[in-house]
Amino acid sequence: MIEITLSDLGAMLLECVGAPEEGMAFEGEQALDTPFIEFGYDSLALLQVTSVINRTYGVVLDDDAVSEAETPRQLLQLIASVPAGRSGPLTGTAPAASTASAGFAGKRVLVTGATRGIGRATALAFARAGARLVAGCRTEGDAAKRLRTELDETGAEFTIVAADVTTSEGAAVLAGGAREWFGDGDRDARGVLDVLVNNVGVDGHVPFDRLTEAEWHRVIGHNTTSAYLVTHALLDVLADGASVVNVGASVALRGRPAGVHYSASKAAVIGFSRALAKDLGPRGIRVNTVAPGVTETDPEEGLPPQLVARLTALTALGRLGRPEDVAGAVLYLAGDSAAYVTGTTIEVDGGI
Ligand SMILES: NC(=O)c1ccc[n+]([C@@H]2O[C@H](COP(=O)([O-])OP(=O)(O)OC[C@H]3O[C@@H](n4cnc5c(N)ncnc54)[C@H](OP(=O)(O)O)[C@@H]3O)[C@@H](O)[C@H]2O)c1
Repeated sequence: MIEITLSDLGAMLLECVGAPEEGMAFEGEQALDTPFIEFGYDSLALLQVTSVINRTYGVVLDDDAVSEAETPRQLLQLIASVPAGRSGPLTGTAPAASTASAGFAGKRVLVTGATRGIGRATALAFARAGARLVAGCRTEGDAAKRLRTELDETGAEFTIVAADVTTSEGAAVLAGGAREWFGDGDRDARGVLDVLVNNVGVDGHVPFDRLTEAEWHRVIGHNTTSAYLVTHALLDVLADGASVVNVGASVALRGRPAGVHYSASKAAVIGFSRALAKDLGPRGIRVNTVAPGVTETDPEEGLPPQLVARLTALTALGRLGRPEDVAGAVLYLAGDSAAYVTGTTIEVDGGI
């Protein structure tokens, strides 16, 4: 038997369809017998949610019966009456993380936001593939210390530069660090960077009616403006024929509830890449976007299990992404295999 509570159902509807009518709450005895239509959910919304339940729990709920459920109680009873097809939620297995790949020996690579999550996996993948690295972060804290130890173990040459890349001053500090490191101490070095990965970004969850101007600017500043500031500061540091990879997000192409600012900031990254590819094409510089889906950067402190199950069920591969999955796409776009690929977006989302 599948155990789904009223609040689980409410959370799934919120995730799949959007918020209920204002003032309506998916909790308490009264909500159990309140018609779905009063919450603003029609039978199409119920079918969307039940397809997630089907895939999560390996069951097949009858569409006609689902459409006839008028209240949450009726739908929960219907769900409880169907034997579970598997004992737990759908979870696919990821192949073992690749520990090494060739092809970047001696290449000069800068990754922003390299101390955690996707940036850390990307920096380590480049290091293992033989690249020389500048790893960016905001502050030289514990995460930077850990990265230093991990990069030391790869034997790669690297330096870590701390600077807030949401400001032009911070972007200039990072660009100066790259110039000096790759130019062997020459503060005026030009054309010494082969790969730039603009990975810095922050998440944001706020319903649109509560979205403040400050929160809008925080998210746009980190996710869009930082890519502009860093790339602009590095324009003459980039070698002709270099590759720029910007980290976007797959929700930019779909939208998500309570994420107007986040989705807009990441959609802007796609436009930024497409247009910059045209400006820099004459120098042979390619510019692309990698758009990850939900990626578990820290499974220990990650999303609540119910949410993981729901998001997992939306993927074709039956698992959430890992930072290494995204790093793989970044390395592909940065390398010679992608020599004729520019202005494009690769979604790394398990087939949502
Ligand atoms: N994780 C996901 O599910 C997911 C899904 C889609 C897209 N993405 C995108 O993937 C990218 C990486 O996400 P993540 O989850 O791996 O990030 P994360 O774990 O939160 O790591 C963020 C990194 O960015 C650095 N950073 C943050 N603000 C900065 C600033 N103002 N200046 C300089 N560095 C700054 C952090 O440095 P400190 O350690 O010094 O703070 C850290 O290294 C982001 O663009 C994100 O939007 C992530």
